[in-house]
Formats: sequence, structure tokens, C-alpha cells
Amino acid sequence: MAAVLRLNKRWILVLVVILFFFISSFFVRFRPASPAPPLPVRDLSSYWPEPVENAVCRPKIYVYEAPSTFQVPKHIQENKCDESNYNSEIILHNQLTDPTSKIHQLYVTKNPEEANFFFIPFFGSCYLYNCWSQNSWHWDERCNVDEKYVEPMMDMIINQLPYWNATGGKNHIMIHPMDQTFTYYKKNELFQPAIFLKTVGDKRTKWFHRHRYHQDIVIPSATRIIHHLNKNPLDYLTPDGHPLTGKKRDIFVMFHGCCNDVQVDDEYSNGIRSLFFNYFQHYPGYDIGLGLADEDYTERLARAKYGLSPMGWTLDTTRIWEFMAFGVVPIVIADGIIEPFEFDVDWDSFIVRIRRDEVHRLDEILRGIDDKTYEYKRRKLWEYGRRVGLEMDAWHFIIRELCRMGHIDKPENLGLGY
Ligand SMILES: *[C@@H]1O[C@H](CO)[C@@H](O)[C@H](O)[C@H]1NC(C)=O
Repeated sequence: MAAVLRLNKRWILVLVVILFFFISSFFVRFRPASPAPPLPVRDLSSYWPEPVENAVCRPKIYVYEAPSTFQVPKHIQENKCDESNYNSEIILHNQLTDPTSKIHQLYVTKNPEEANFFFIPFFGSCYLYNCWSQNSWHWDERCNVDEKYVEPMMDMIINQLPYWNATGGKNHIMIHPMDQTFTYYKKNELFQPAIFLKTVGDKRTKWFHRHRYHQDIVIPSATRIIHHLNKNPLDYLTPDGHPLTGKKRDIFVMFHGCCNDVQVDDEYSNGIRSLFFNYFQHYPGYDIGLGLADEDYTERLARAKYGLSPMGWTLDTTRIWEFMAFGVVPIVIADGIIEPFEFDVDWDSFIVRIRRDEVHRLDEILRGIDDKTYEYKRRKLWEYGRRVGLEMDAWHFIIRELCRMGHIDKPENLGLGY
């Protein structure tokens, strides 16, 4: 009897000990861990991207002047071409030549002898846009662009002035903002050595010949709302990028554009837009349609949280520049896109990328983004991302790329204050 009792006592002791370990390990495991603190700030040079005012170099650019005998007339530049999405060529040229612009003051020299780079005032897109507008928008029409424009321009640059030959054209810059870049011109071999600024950046091998590796710089597009109608986002938003109405952004996802008859296996947008019009259009919070009047569209930009930026015929997503200017977080659906200035702009901090093979999960993916992550992206977009636009800092970013291409490593603070 006593032995049994002794045994029981011993067993009870063992049991208590086991129970103690079990319970205490339970509490250790489920005790809430202390939250990780944000990492301390380090020296600025350890971060990427650097503030844009910390320039890689400050090169001098000489801007050629083309005589009115062959240049696209001023009134066509200012009227017809102003409405075009391909107007980056004229906007960027005007920023260089306007003596009151900061860009002119920082980078332009009147003395070609001291220039690091030479800007060719080639407005091929304007020439062709105007040509097409007068020829019932027949995109194959060329209006003798080679004979009347490319040849006299390049004759002046190559044969009448000494600067092209000094480097074989390598430090000359020209802009090709249309889908097919330089391929519109039969005589494009004349200017092939130059650096091209272009709005379509594409990593797919099928367009290998259109994106010249390490010789092309991808730049922002012009957009109707910002650059033609000159809508000012601050007429719709607070200085922090919130709606002036004081309410929260109440459109979850917005898209207005082509086309509601896209089929899943179409080349246009790789079929992506078929899901927009056949499915997402009917989801709650989605504002999807074929297009809106300008003012209506602008007002909705100020109300939208996310904006869909799918590829079209090419991988430039023109409407992204309107989203960005209005603080609408872009959803980029364009596998293989090269965004402008990827070396200096942290795109993934302020956009959401969705691959084509995940687009059907669009709503699930976006609803899964918590409020803090959305606000992080929105703030990065407002403070940094939107500054990339043509009307803002595009030239400073182009210059950074030129410094690298020209192997000029002479850091300088531009004193921009941000
Ligand atoms: C530049 O080189 C080309 C080809 O050799 C030549 O035809 C042209 O006259 C040269 N330009 C100048 C300004 O000397």
C-alpha cells in the first residue's frame, strides 16, 4: 500500500514537472514578440536612389538651331503638335531653350566648343503627326519626311558643322517619342550613332532592334490632361495629395480607355484588356470605361486610389503620367517594360506590378494590400514618383543617364532643395 502511494507521489511529481514545462513553453511560444523597430538612418550615400539634386555630373549641352527653311513651323509646333501624346520632343526642347527655365540655366551653353553634348532639334513626330492630320490619319503617309526634313537636318549637322564628326555623332541627342521610334525614317542610318530619347522601353527580344542597349534613354510621355490642357493637380488636391473635398479617395480602381472588344488572344494589350471590360468593370469600386470628357476624367483622377496602366500596342503606358501627377497609385501590367530612368527612380516603391498571368487575380491582389502599404506607396509617389514627369524633373534624370553614358563622374549639388 505504502509502496503504491510512494509510486503515485513520484509519478505526480514527474507529471507536475512535465506539465510545468509544457505550459511554460506554451506561454513562451505564444507570448507576443516585441515589434521590430524601423532601422536607424545611415549616411545618405548608403541609400538608393539618391536625391535628384545630388547630380552625377552637370554637363553642358549645346542646342543646334535649325533654319525655318526646313524646321517644322512654329505655329504647327505650338498648335497641332501640342495636343499630341508625342509632344515630349517639343516640351523637352523648349525647356532647354527657354532662358527663364532652370533646365536652361543649369545645362545649356551657347559655346559649342565647351559642350559635352549636342541636342538636335529634330521634331519628326510633330512633322508626321501634322502630316497624318492632313491625310485622314493614314499612318503610312510620310509627306516626304526624309527628303524635306531628315536629310537637310542631318546635312546641316554632319556636313556644315564640325561637332558631329568630332565624336562620330556619339555625343549627339535626339528624341523619338512615337511607337516605332526611328523606323519611320528611311534615312535613319544618318543619325544612328546619336543617343535617342524614347518613350517606349521594351525588354522583349522581339523588339530588340527598336531598343538600342546602352544607347537609348527611356523618357516620360506627354499627356493631354497635363501638357495640353495644362490641368494643375493642385487645383484638385491638397499639398499632401489628398482630395480637396476632405473626403478619402472613393474610387478603388480606375481605367478609361481602349477597347471593350479586345479578345483574350489579341496582340493588342496581349489580351489583358478583355478582362477589364468583361469582368472587372462589374466589380464594386471599379470605374472602368471607354473614355470620358476631360474635366470629368480629371475630377476622377483626384478620387481614385489605384489606376490601371496596361500595355497597348507597345509597352509604354501613357496614362501612367496622369495617374502619377494626381497621386493615383499605378497598377502596371506590361511584362518586359523598361520604365524611364530605372537607374535613378525606385519604381517599385510607388507602383504595383501585376504580371499578365496574374491579372485574373487583380481584385484579390489589390484587396490584399493593407492600408499602411497603400499609404507608403501613395506617399512615395507624391513625394518622388510624380516628380519624374516631363513638367517636373525629367531633364535632371535624362542628364544622370547622359553622365553615365559619357563616363562623366563629377558629382555636384544642384541646390533644388529636395
Ligand atoms: C564629316 O565626315 C563626313 C564623312 O567623312 C564628311 O562627308 C563631312 O564633310 C564631314 N563634315 C565636316 C563638317 O567636315
